[in-house]
Amino acid sequence: MHHSDFVSMVAKIYKPKLYLELGLYQGETWRKVVPHCEQAIGVDVVDRGFSGGEIHIKTTDSFFNTFDRQVDMAFIDADHCFESVLKDFHNVSTRLREGGVIIVHDTDPESDSLFDKGYCGDAYRVVAWLESHEEYNAVTLPVAEAGLTIATKKNSSRTLRRHYVEDKKRK
Ligand SMILES: C[S@@+](CC[C@H](N)C(=O)[O-])C[C@H]1O[C@@H](n2cnc3c(N)ncnc32)[C@H](O)[C@@H]1O
Repeated sequence: MHHSDFVSMVAKIYKPKLYLELGLYQGETWRKVVPHCEQAIGVDVVDRGFSGGEIHIKTTDSFFNTFDRQVDMAFIDADHCFESVLKDFHNVSTRLREGGVIIVHDTDPESDSLFDKGYCGDAYRVVAWLESHEEYNAVTLPVAEAGLTIATKKNSSRTLRRHYVEDKKRK
């Protein structure tokens, strides 16, 4: 399965009010996801003439300097070095609506040859980071050649947050 089909399948189920895609390239995922969203915002440093939503031609860092809306679903797929992925993840996470979902691309490349900066970089390191941060639920799937990770925030009205994270903090 191509990652774009997977992300679009999640969007079809989630029906996000606001979808945010960081890194659009030729819009393969964008075109498949946008029809399932009330609103869609895409960010890329290169203008490739996209349509169908609100497009920002800038770096993700400069986008988040002024962006303050709540996001229901995000696909992080811009700069694939770990530090940038983590920054993008943090910036999305702080704007994620309760129950929202974040998908990070390139987190389980099928071979070391894909570690090149132009492909998956070291985005996979975000998986270990997520595993050490108990406020997130995360699952990594070997989808296509690059793999991806779906993350949500543990919800304070549900068991995993109440009994794991909050009990642990009290100890
Ligand atoms: C792997 S492609 C995105 C593919 C697309 N999400 C898809 O699934 O079809 C990565 C894109 O991120 C853009 N990009 C790289 N670094 C960026 C940054 N710091 N801010 C915004 N866009 C960036 C590149 O121009 C490129 O178009």
